[in-house]
Amino acid sequence: MATITAGVATPHIPAIGAAIDNGRSNEPYWKPVFAGYEFSKRWISEARPDVVILVYNDHASAFSLDIVPTFAIGCAERFQPADEGWGPRPVPVVEGHAELAAHLAQSIIQEDFDLTIINRMDVDHGLTVPLSLLFGQPERWPVRVIPIAVNVVLYPPPSGNRCFALGKAIRRAVDSFDQDLNVQVWGTGGMSHQLQGPRAGLINREWDNRWLDGLIEDPETLARMPHIEYVREAGSEGIELVMWLTMRGALNPKVRTVHRFYHVPASNTAVGHVILENAS
Ligand code: DHB
Ligand code: FE
Repeated sequence: MATITAGVATPHIPAIGAAIDNGRSNEPYWKPVFAGYEFSKRWISEARPDVVILVYNDHASAFSLDIVPTFAIGCAERFQPADEGWGPRPVPVVEGHAELAAHLAQSIIQEDFDLTIINRMDVDHGLTVPLSLLFGQPERWPVRVIPIAVNVVLYPPPSGNRCFALGKAIRRAVDSFDQDLNVQVWGTGGMSHQLQGPRAGLINREWDNRWLDGLIEDPETLARMPHIEYVREAGSEGIELVMWLTMRGALNPKVRTVHRFYHVPASNTAVGHVILENAS
């Protein structure tokens, strides 16, 4: 039987990808950022997931503003790194798990949760930067990845509660897949950041850390937080945090915090990173 063993949350800041790709991760600005992932790299080399269900948002790379699915699942055999304007990142092709993805789509959609099925798409920094943070620069990614894309780019994004419910539906779907697979669910994006307008550069450490406490201890309550609070307290792009609630919804009500890290500065975003394992 397939089992969800752990959840990971991390930002997907594109400048982190550029620092890795250009060999700059030891520079004084970046060193403390990557230090927060040293434990995570050791942990994942022991945890050895077969599949990561990676919840992220596309930043107008695979989807233009012509079509913006609220929730989409990547069912392809492989996904190419997207060209985001300066050529694709020099990272391996992302191998999917078409069989589990098809099962997820069937189970989740037939449980009345609408997912858009994507049979071909490229994946941008939202998906590849988290892989680089956890796995470094391998020849081949050591996991298969099922992308779940959530719209947090064009108003209105789905509520935190809906994202949390999606996580629960993912959990039921994985539990009913009959292959022996070690599955992780990752949520990406956040924490506080605003990339535009008069409040560009906004960071809110206190709010971020209280939000992390809630994610770990009382996600049911946290999931009811309205969008306006994210925008007011965590900036316009802070809304990416709703994707972490999908990861949390896929885990047990009680979790063990294996790793927790918070760091500013890293480009325009507060780096919050947690690894959670299921507790009973
Ligand atoms: C940054 C963060 C993001 O989440 C993103 O999608 C683009 C840029 C940043 O901090 O620079
Ligand atoms: Fe983003």
